[in-house]
Amino acid sequence: MIALGCDHGGYPLMKEIIKYLDENGIAYKNFGTFSEESVDYPAYAKQVAHAVADGVCEKGILVCGTGIGISIAANKVKGIRAALCGDVFSAKATREHNDANILAMGARVTGPGLALEILKAFLETPFSNDERHIRRIRQIEE
Ligand code: RB5
Repeated sequence: MIALGCDHGGYPLMKEIIKYLDENGIAYKNFGTFSEESVDYPAYAKQVAHAVADGVCEKGILVCGTGIGISIAANKVKGIRAALCGDVFSAKATREHNDANILAMGARVTGPGLALEILKAFLETPFSNDERHIRRIRQIEE
């Protein structure tokens, strides 16, 4: 189960993400927002982050205008490793190296075609399980 969250700035891209998940039979829990009416992104970041940190959802996707505010807010929750990605290489690397559990993107920065490739890479790339990466992730939590 994938937890979804966005603010008004991220809503247009989130609609594309939902379409992709529906078409590919990927289950999700959508925490909103559900329109382009102005809202405060920390509320959505926190709901998604807690769903992932508590194990209700295995990964999360967060979108705001830049992806910056919503990823900063998500990373305040213990156990969350939210990665703001604007390219496919970073999405793949952050899964392999950081075991990132939330992908953040900026709807005003990254177009929908690239964003869906980033999403695909994030969802399909497993953590490497390399000892050095496990050690470094543990150090983040200390
Ligand atoms: C909203 O206008 C905008 O500030 C927000 O979507 C995001 O870009 C914040 O980091």
